[in-house]
Amino acid sequence: MVETNPNLYSNSFNIEGGNFNSAGIVSTNIKSILKKLGIPSDIVRKAAIVSYEAEINVVSYAKKAIVNLTVNPGVVQIEVIDEGPGIPNIDLAMQEGYSTADQRIREMGFGAGMGLCNIKNYSDVFHITSEVGKGTHLKMTIQTP
Ligand SMILES: Nc1ncnc2c1ncn2[C@@H]1O[C@H](COP(=O)(O)OP(=O)(O)OP(=O)(O)O)[C@@H](O)[C@H]1O
Ligand SMILES: [Mg+2]
Repeated sequence: MVETNPNLYSNSFNIEGGNFNSAGIVSTNIKSILKKLGIPSDIVRKAAIVSYEAEINVVSYAKKAIVNLTVNPGVVQIEVIDEGPGIPNIDLAMQEGYSTADQRIREMGFGAGMGLCNIKNYSDVFHITSEVGKGTHLKMTIQTP
């Protein structure tokens, strides 16, 4: 017999590139969903940080993205798949302080070049792939007790 192992919870969200008015809505949503599911607050905090940084990057640099949130026993997974310019040099983009943010983005308080480092640091497992001219794919896994 094939055993089914349904997700505890899964949902998808859209992010619109360039729209700073709605920037942060998806990560706020994820935060409240995880809280309601009874996920411990330190895990919720990590998930909120990584999803916020990824969301701001999509708004700042990409055209649009879909975010998949999956909660399973022992693990919260957040995947952000964007359509956009992609990242030509991931090693460089991952360096602390590296940023291509323009004046407009910097005036809004972003562009310190810390987002991707924070995502890596607050995730237990972090995968990033990117194709120039197509888009970027982030996968963040956070373990739960
Ligand atoms: N989704 C993306 N699509 C295209 N380029 C991206 C994307 N995310 C990041 N980048 C590139 O990687 C660089 C580093 O991103 P990172 O989030 O670490 O810093 P930042 O966005 O520049 O500043 P901060 O996140 O501290 O406000 C960006 O400046 C940008 O050039
Ligand atoms: Mg950023």
